[in-house]
Amino acid sequence: MRVLVTGGAGFIGSNFVHQTVRERPDVQVTVLDALTYAGDRESLAPVADKITLVEGSITDVALVDSLVADSDLVVHFAAESHNDNSLNDPTPFVQTNLIGTFVLLEAVRKHDVRFHHISTDEVYGDLELDDPAKFTPTTPYNPSSPYSSTKAGSDLLVRAWVRSFGVKATISNCSNNYGPYQHIEKFIPRQITNLIDGVRPKLYGAGQNVRDWIHVEDHNSAVWAIIEKGRIGETYLIGADGEKNNLEVVETLLEIFGLDRTDFEHVNDRPGHDLRYAIDATKLRDELGWTPKYTDFRSGLEATVDWYKANEAWWRPAKQATEAKYAAQGQ
Ligand code: NAD
Ligand code: DAU
Repeated sequence: MRVLVTGGAGFIGSNFVHQTVRERPDVQVTVLDALTYAGDRESLAPVADKITLVEGSITDVALVDSLVADSDLVVHFAAESHNDNSLNDPTPFVQTNLIGTFVLLEAVRKHDVRFHHISTDEVYGDLELDDPAKFTPTTPYNPSSPYSSTKAGSDLLVRAWVRSFGVKATISNCSNNYGPYQHIEKFIPRQITNLIDGVRPKLYGAGQNVRDWIHVEDHNSAVWAIIEKGRIGETYLIGADGEKNNLEVVETLLEIFGLDRTDFEHVNDRPGHDLRYAIDATKLRDELGWTPKYTDFRSGLEATVDWYKANEAWWRPAKQATEAKYAAQGQ
């Protein structure tokens, strides 16, 4: 099977490529990635001789058309992915997340290629902290940020292309991922690399916001389950019952580093900050028989800390610029 992985040099995409090469020798992987600030050739270095990496944008109609024509399946990870960046400049979010997905959909329609669209639970907006409800596939779309609204728009494009043109697509909406190769602008690797540098973790606002953490390997095993067993046109929510508030995550990291649980600082909150995300993954579990492997958050976090300690050469070049950007925002 020839698989085109968009955004395969980013966090989740590169882990998907690693997992695929490791577990599916029958799959031939081509990565299409624009290598933006969030994409890194080095994230694919361990599998470089087993895959093809094409540097280019998913908004490039001719390039996308030629790559899709030579594929049996497209797994679409490429996106602008960081909420804080979308508040500063939404332009690349509209370009990549909306126009880029449109370009891919037109190509898979033309060449009749199976498509799997990677999306986020943020399309559903947020839940109250004291609400026992979780997101389900029938929760109404209600995105908050420029990032999540462009992801919501891309999901709706996929649904329309399925219904109007018979495109063979599935969609997955996953909760917050953690694990190796995550850009250090994101919450967990930012705090890990701060702690490695002897800098106190930075908590937005009071730190009460809740995220539903899943290890990236579990996200990607669910994606393969949907590709192989999912029903065309369906949406599957991916989550592993990992709800934690941000304060709990920072306290756990401080413990792992052998520091006092109060040794962090509060910084400016994110405008429009979503309160809580929580996934009901019953459909994925019952229909496709998927189960997560990383059910102990603390040991998953310890392994992630070890990875960042052992791979300083991978993240160090981005640290100064990332922190300068946050400092300018009082974060
Ligand atoms: P990331 O920012 O780490 O990686 C994105 C990748 O896309 C980078 O390699 C970047 O170079 C590439 N890219 C950006 N614009 C491109 C373009 N125009 N053409 C080609 N490539 C381009 O993101 P991530 O965290 O790995 O997220 C991957 C996908 O998963 C996204 O669609 C995101 O919405 C979704 N998602 C992420 C999470 C999470 O917790 N990180 C959770 C659920 C869903
Ligand atoms: O829910 C899925 C989404 O998870 C994905 O769609 C996004 O691509 C991904 O970036 C992530 O979005 P979040 O905004 O939840 O992730 P982020 O890592 O930016 O922040 C997680 C939480 O931590 C959030 O409540 C904000 C907070 N935070 C973040 C940073 C960077 C802090 O308290 N301090 C920080 O320094």
